[in-house]
Amino acid sequence: MNILITGAAGYIGSHVAKQIIEYTDYNLTIIDNLSTGKKETILALQNILKNKESGTQKMEFIKEDLCNFKAIEKIFADGGFDALIHFAASIVVPESVLNPLKYYMNNTLNTINIVNLCNKYDVGKMVFSSTAAVYGEPKTIPVNEDAHLAPINPYGWSKLMSEQVICDTAKANKNFKYIIFRYFNVAGADLENRIGQSFPNATHLIKVAAQTAIGKRKQIAIYGNNYNTKDGTCVRDYIHVDDLAFAHIMGLEYLKEFDSDIFNVGYGKGYSVKEVIDTMKTVSGVDFKVIYEDRRAGDPAQLVSDNRKIINAYAKLKRFGLKKMFPRLFRYDNLELICKTALAWEKNYSL
Ligand SMILES: NC(=O)c1ccc[n+]([C@@H]2O[C@H](COP(=O)([O-])OP(=O)(O)OC[C@H]3O[C@@H](n4cnc5c(N)ncnc54)[C@H](O)[C@@H]3O)[C@@H](O)[C@H]2O)c1
Repeated sequence: MNILITGAAGYIGSHVAKQIIEYTDYNLTIIDNLSTGKKETILALQNILKNKESGTQKMEFIKEDLCNFKAIEKIFADGGFDALIHFAASIVVPESVLNPLKYYMNNTLNTINIVNLCNKYDVGKMVFSSTAAVYGEPKTIPVNEDAHLAPINPYGWSKLMSEQVICDTAKANKNFKYIIFRYFNVAGADLENRIGQSFPNATHLIKVAAQTAIGKRKQIAIYGNNYNTKDGTCVRDYIHVDDLAFAHIMGLEYLKEFDSDIFNVGYGKGYSVKEVIDTMKTVSGVDFKVIYEDRRAGDPAQLVSDNRKIINAYAKLKRFGLKKMFPRLFRYDNLELICKTALAWEKNYSL
């Protein structure tokens, strides 16, 4: 298979590209404008491919912006792609409130364009990165895929609109199938410390805690300690990036056998902000400074996935005999391990 991946110089896309190299012989073409992604990440992927024993697999990197529709169309026209995995997006929620059009253009408009190109150039499979932000403030925890969709910020809306475009297009074109993954909180890094979250201003709690533990930041803030949760701080579902990445490999295989679908990807387990910070303190051995600030607008008290649907899908696939299988879909469901890998990456990474 020839796979096109957008945004694979970034955090999650690079872990998926790594696993495509490790677990398949699919050829990869990566498009990224390096706005938050890094050239070093592409070099690390090229090294992983070089060190792989089987020699026929290819990876090409094209530095391009998805908003350059002409250039992107040429890549589709020349590529002969069988599948698209679309990660490239803007992802900072508060920024989306201040600058919504950036999100509607970079996320929604560019997705419309590439879905259109998939149809025009017969790319029959698409895997799309969506987010738990499409649920807004869910009424029931854990939240399942049929829950009411009510984003509370432009980032969430930009992703929900993209989902709608993909679903409607697939209804009209039977040769176009999709998997939409709604990620919960993604954290950690490659266990061999070759790639990780490389954007220094990232706002993810575990990354920020790791940065604070090694002195890249002076302190970490907890926003709100009077939520109706176990210790008053917000509860989230943290998934190791390599487990999330493997779900994408599964998604590609799933589409060979089954119809389009939407899956939550999380462990179905909630940890409070305070528990996460305490775990980072334990694994780093550093009692770093924590301050308390007011709640941030639009932070739901709890966001935990109901992940039964994706676990059942994996079991269904197993019966069809996917080649590279693991006994469990989620292998790294361990907060200490997630924090350790995030910390190791932060120490390794110079920015
Ligand atoms: N990180 C999370 O916790 C999380 C949670 C839910 C959903 N997601 C989704 O996962 C996807 C990947 O997120 P990430 O954390 O890896 O972010 P990231 O910023 O590390 O990666 C995004 C990549 O896309 C590239 N990019 C952005 N706009 C582009 C454009 N116009 N043209 C070409 N390349 C462009 C960036 O340079 C970067 O390499 C996003 O779609 C995001 O919405 C992430």
